Amino acid sequence: MMRQVKTLGLLGTGVIGGGWAARALHFGIDVVAADVKPEMEEWIRGAVANAEGALARLTVAPLPPKGTLSFTTDLSAMARRVDFIQENIPERLELKQRVLAEVSRHAPPDVVIASSTSGLMPSDLQRDMTAPERLLVAHPFNPVYLLPLVELVGGRQTAAEALDAAARFFTYIGMHPLRVRREVPGHLTDRLQEALWREILHMVNEDVATTGELDDSIIYGPGLRWAAMGTNLIYHLAGGESGMRHMLQQFGPCLKWPWTKLEAPELTEGLIDKMVAGTQAQAGGRSIRELERLRDDYLVAVQQVLREYNIGAGATLRALEARLYEASAAGARARIAAAATSGEAAAQPLRLLETQVRPEWIDYNGHMTDWRYLQVFGDATDALLRHAGVDDAYRRSGRALYTLESRVAHHAEAHSQELLYVTTRVLEVDEKRLRLLHSLHRTRDDIVVATALQVYVHVETAARKSAPLDAAVRARLAALQAAQARLPLPVAAQRLTDQAAH
Ligand SMILES: NC(=O)c1ccc[n+]([C@@H]2O[C@H](COP(=O)([O-])OP(=O)(O)OC[C@H]3O[C@@H](n4cnc5c(N)ncnc54)[C@H](O)[C@@H]3O)[C@@H](O)[C@H]2O)c1
Repeated sequence: MMRQVKTLGLLGTGVIGGGWAARALHFGIDVVAADVKPEMEEWIRGAVANAEGALARLTVAPLPPKGTLSFTTDLSAMARRVDFIQENIPERLELKQRVLAEVSRHAPPDVVIASSTSGLMPSDLQRDMTAPERLLVAHPFNPVYLLPLVELVGGRQTAAEALDAAARFFTYIGMHPLRVRREVPGHLTDRLQEALWREILHMVNEDVATTGELDDSIIYGPGLRWAAMGTNLIYHLAGGESGMRHMLQQFGPCLKWPWTKLEAPELTEGLIDKMVAGTQAQAGGRSIRELERLRDDYLVAVQQVLREYNIGAGATLRALEARLYEASAAGARARIAAAATSGEAAAQPLRLLETQVRPEWIDYNGHMTDWRYLQVFGDATDALLRHAGVDDAYRRSGRALYTLESRVAHHAEAHSQELLYVTTRVLEVDEKRLRLLHSLHRTRDDIVVATALQVYVHVETAARKSAPLDAAVRARLAALQAAQARLPLPVAAQRLTDQAAH
């Protein structure tokens, strides 16, 4: 059995290592980054900070506390401390073989070792390793923290178990593992990308088009289609009623001519100059950082739109959010069940949510901004309702609880990285309404940072009308209310409930 991953080890912390670090930390995985160059510590911390802005906007689903990042130049020390190793050193076979062999002597055999290689074959990489059956290729795409695709490729000695464990881990951190059936140089995506790039080089070389014109030929047309439907499905649509068959008949002859050139052109100084001048003109004076920010912003926005259609990377995002809400609810479930069944002795306000003030939650005053309080209280409500039976299936049946009223009172400040938890009381539940009292506490001293009184109404969503709660849901909420009925109300909460009564 391969390990469950709590700590990820990175071997090589350049562009790709930095991207892996940002993604893993964001979803609560600790990272031990190892690189031969000590100056890469500062670089990787900067790369993680840069990624944060866009990553933070990807979803508002409840995240576990962020992972912690440590750095070392001692590769074997890293290998001994981690549950999964992702190698991201330069693309040179002998170098990768040597370093992977060395690291595999220090990493226990139940630690998966994956390589980010863009095109090398896993059978070659695992040749000199100890326990080579845990080696696989896990090829990501830049920026690793925003693009969900990771190609998984096993070599001759790779165990199915290692591929399964890797797929589980990558799914956990929001990715789409694509299993490549057999190893081929360049895997799937880079082989396709290279074919396109080779044609670009030919056309620039022969002055058929500039780099900008060739990019326009993609971004105004096929690029938009590719975000959700690949070439094959799109061509199936292009063939009319008889789909792909017609498409092949119609365009089959072009494939014989062919339109494209299989050999890459010679990379002469002249061609290199044209490629560089062309892309500099496209950049129009904007720095790489500026363009990266633009790219990251639209990558987030595109995935959020695709989520609405539950397609491609949007389906991955939806599945990730479902997991995050479920994980948050699971954390609360056992405590709720105990409180509901064991009567007054266990009648504590329910500790429903553990969270952490993420750096992006901070406003210009240096503490947690207003609307994040509502998000945290909303997540606590979500965990409670899931326990009571209001889950995704319930919502799909056309019923939900809508917020009627939220009153928040602020008592103390919450600073960046502060660990917090929410306790909740069910104040009242009747045929259609639910009244909750949440308290947000600082974990280090239990101080109440804010309290919220929230009133929800049960609705039939299609009719947009209030409707009676499902009997089983109501019974579970009523059991909680009864168990907590004798608890004294906190003073701040009394103020909120008094105001609400007036
Ligand atoms: N850049 C991309 O778009 C991209 C995309 C997918 C996969 N990849 C693959 O990821 C890998 C890394 O690419 P990159 O672009 O991040 O390269 P990079 O040059 O940015 O980073 C490589 C890092 O490895 C470190 N390094 C070198 N020798 C080392 C050793 N012996 N031990 C530990 N660290 C060592 C270097 O100091 C450097 O920080 C390559 O295999 C590449 O094919 C790259």
